[in-house]
Amino acid sequence: MREAASALPRKRAIFAGLLVAGLHAGALAAEPDMEAGRALFVGATPACALCHTLNDAQSSGAIGPKLDEIKPDAARVETAIRNGIGQMPAYTTLSDKEIETLAAYVAKATGAQP
Ligand code: HEC
Repeated sequence: MREAASALPRKRAIFAGLLVAGLHAGALAAEPDMEAGRALFVGATPACALCHTLNDAQSSGAIGPKLDEIKPDAARVETAIRNGIGQMPAYTTLSDKEIETLAAYVAKATGAQP
């Protein structure tokens, strides 16, 4: 019985640890998926990287504005991707999820407000 009594505080500590890990995972889920966003930025057809400079994606395209300078928020990126703007084509083959991932990525990578 002595053993059980001494094991209790340890179990509580493990439980508290799991709780913190769980909350942490929840907070991360709301963060943009930077890896997926970067992959889309260089891998979409045509690649955003072809026309735009974005330090995070190590791209130096110069046809469109430097994203690090204009720091577009996610809504502005999303509108550009969906509708196209000037010489930039509308991306009709990307899914909603891909567009959201890309928009959140660009906003975060440039330090814009989400
Ligand atoms: C063919 C070249 C080209 C490609 C590819 C391209 N863009 Fe653009 N983009 C431009 C040009 C040019 C502009 C400026 C248009 C204007 O203001 O007339 C622009 C503008 C933008 C803007 C600013 C929109 C605004 O409201 O001022 C954002 C954000 C943007 N592009 C993001 C992206 C993303 C993300 C991708 C990939 C999904 C992408 N672009 C692909 C050429 C391109």
